[in-house]
Amino acid sequence: MDQTGARYVLLVLLAVATTWGLLAPGRQNSLGLELCMGCICEATSNCNLTFHCTRGFCGPFLISQLYWKEAGRPVIPGDHQNKKGAYIRCVTEPYCAAATVRHYLARYAQDCNGNGNIDCDDFARIHYMGGRQCTISMENLGYYQVFGACHKSIRQLTG
Ligand SMILES: *[C@@H]1O[C@H](CO)[C@@H](O)[C@H](O)[C@H]1NC(C)=O
Repeated sequence: MDQTGARYVLLVLLAVATTWGLLAPGRQNSLGLELCMGCICEATSNCNLTFHCTRGFCGPFLISQLYWKEAGRPVIPGDHQNKKGAYIRCVTEPYCAAATVRHYLARYAQDCNGNGNIDCDDFARIHYMGGRQCTISMENLGYYQVFGACHKSIRQLTG
């Protein structure tokens, strides 16, 4: 399989995995958000689902402990928020990592780029810059360029 094919499979897997996790009662489901998170994952770590940590950023979404706390400290099944290592165990496990991102994006959802909508581009900015400084320009960052290319292909796939 070529790289694009492999990426597509990863994106779809992530979408399915996280959609599965989303089907909790009362939660709004959105395939668009899941695909968006696939592009964020791709831009963050090449969506490396086995990535551990670098300089305090862990898992495929490179989530810091503060980000995890602000996301409400989700945990893997059977774990507890206050147990030592709960943060690392969550953010290095794909389902829990995606749940962390989803909660963080929901908490800080805002129109960072000023285009009048809260959309995937805003989510990519919020994930990288944090919820309090997402209006900072990111156009020159490698992260944003990879995200942009992925987002463009997603838009072509979904119309
Ligand atoms: C994913 O990350 C691990 C740990 O850093 C690394 O050993 C592995 O080569 C990476 N995989 C890919 C596909 O980049």
